[in-house]
Amino acid sequence: MASITPHASAAAPAHSQWSSRMGFILAATGSAVGLGNIWKFPYMVGQSGGAAFVLVYLVCIAMIGLPILVAEWLLGRRGQENPINTMAGLAAANRKSRHWALVGVSGVAAAFLILSFYSVIGGWALAYIADAAGGSFGGLDSDAAGALFNGLLASPATLLAWHSAFTLFTVAVVAMGVSGGIERASKLLMPALGVLLLVMVGYGMTTAGFGSAVDYLFNPDWSKLDGAVVLAALGHAFFTLSLGMGIMMAYGSYLGQEVNLLRSARTVVIFDTVFALTAGLAIFPVVFANGLDPASGPGLIFVTLPLAFGNLAGGQILGVMFFLLLTFAALTSAISLLEPLVALTEERTPLGRVAATAVAGLATWALGIAALLSFNVWSDVLFFGLNVFDLLDKLTSKFLLPLTGLGAIVFVAWCLERNSVRNELGLGALGFGVWNVVARYVAPAGVLVVFVSSL
Ligand code: PFF
Repeated sequence: MASITPHASAAAPAHSQWSSRMGFILAATGSAVGLGNIWKFPYMVGQSGGAAFVLVYLVCIAMIGLPILVAEWLLGRRGQENPINTMAGLAAANRKSRHWALVGVSGVAAAFLILSFYSVIGGWALAYIADAAGGSFGGLDSDAAGALFNGLLASPATLLAWHSAFTLFTVAVVAMGVSGGIERASKLLMPALGVLLLVMVGYGMTTAGFGSAVDYLFNPDWSKLDGAVVLAALGHAFFTLSLGMGIMMAYGSYLGQEVNLLRSARTVVIFDTVFALTAGLAIFPVVFANGLDPASGPGLIFVTLPLAFGNLAGGQILGVMFFLLLTFAALTSAISLLEPLVALTEERTPLGRVAATAVAGLATWALGIAALLSFNVWSDVLFFGLNVFDLLDKLTSKFLLPLTGLGAIVFVAWCLERNSVRNELGLGALGFGVWNVVARYVAPAGVLVVFVSSL
């Protein structure tokens, strides 16, 4: 987390600070925008039947995600420590149970579980850079695109190699403490990814599937809506905004008092949402133009995009660029996932930074192997009817993240002194009234209702 530079002024706080509001927004956006937007969002839309999911997701982002993002930053800024100590310290200062520290603990646990399978998918993106460069996308039809992807999934050795490479990149960046450089690079590369997505949307417009795609994404068929779809939308709102993992809390701890939390949250949320919707508009025209199944699952972008690149002038170079940039976006998210584990390992063991990073990286790498084997040799190894990959995904998105986020917002709304929160948010009477209703009732009730109804 190093687009933070230690404050040099005489009044320097013990804890370092972001070099600028811009650096903070950039890092938070870098964590938020990743595979969740480009890989996961489209296939979840497809599995959930389209626009009804999209609309519920947008409501979850606005009514639950945004306030929880603000709550996590606020807690981090007050606590000035890692998420576990922050929660413990704030609970003590406000004479609340020390069990609030559990919010921090489950956040760190979720980060660990997510990183393990996140690196596997980051590995897919790496593999596709090589495929694109080698010309594998040229003249593909939908069967060949499917075969290419299934070939990757069927080979544990190939998956392991790319998963290892992705983990190694992540570990190297964190161990060398160069995430600041990565974040500065993201100023250029994230917009580039956005532009390439727009190019793909442009290609989608030339296909026969564009109208169906827009319809599918924005014209809801409410009969597709049920408790499972709502829970999936809620869980994804947490995943995509990097909530419920203590990560945004950690970012908040480096934040100066002058930064306006609500405005910053709005910026991050808008960027994140625009990336996801654009990805949807890039993918679904190809799905419908080629008669593919929108509900085909995690392989969706890895089948549709090569088809599109294969049919596009300059598709080979565009394909390489796209998967490079996707890997980069995944990397900025992955380093934010690894950071809290490393910080904790460093604090609680005698290990130094490099060794702590190696240990944390090794642990997620090992669990990632179980995840990648669930696409082939362990596909029949089921827990509660789910393979390891699905188990890790569901356990985190549908369980740990919502509950941790719920803890954060309940603590802010109910346990902190109200006037201090109002001042910190810089809200007038009306604005704070709205905040209070949302933070005290709407967001917590939303999480609880969705959660309980799905059990
Ligand atoms: N928000 C990232 C994405 O949408 O890809 C994934 C992620 C990163 C989740 C960091 C959680 C996190 F802490």
